[in-house]
Amino acid sequence: MNVKELELFSKLSIQEQKHSIRVAYDIKFFCKENNKIDMDLLLKAALLHDIGKTYKKLNLIDKSVIVLLNSISKGNIKRFFKNEKINVYYNHGRIGRELLERIKCDKELLYLVEHHHNFEIYNNLGLNILRFYDKKN
Ligand SMILES: [Fe+2]
Repeated sequence: MNVKELELFSKLSIQEQKHSIRVAYDIKFFCKENNKIDMDLLLKAALLHDIGKTYKKLNLIDKSVIVLLNSISKGNIKRFFKNEKINVYYNHGRIGRELLERIKCDKELLYLVEHHHNFEIYNNLGLNILRFYDKKN
């Protein structure tokens, strides 16, 4: 990562940094077995995929409340509750893309970060790998 990317990474909570490093570690292991994959791109995506969460800090209680409200509202939380933290929780992919765009990151990286929770896109190998290890960790 360059200095600007590292600066952004350092704004993640320690818990989110640890999660991102675990995702990167698994992806590195996976890529070593599969040399057709752009490992550098995927490692950067692993470390920066949740960077949109730095826009508005969410603590463990916020996340628990959001998950609970989402369950109560049967998945319609965004319709029933208008709140900036809920917006960040559900749109941190897009917000992350915008943050990374400002520091002129590669388009491939922007794509992976923006869509890492979009399960409608399944024909992108890098995205599939990132989503798999994101979920696992
Ligand atoms: Fe995420």
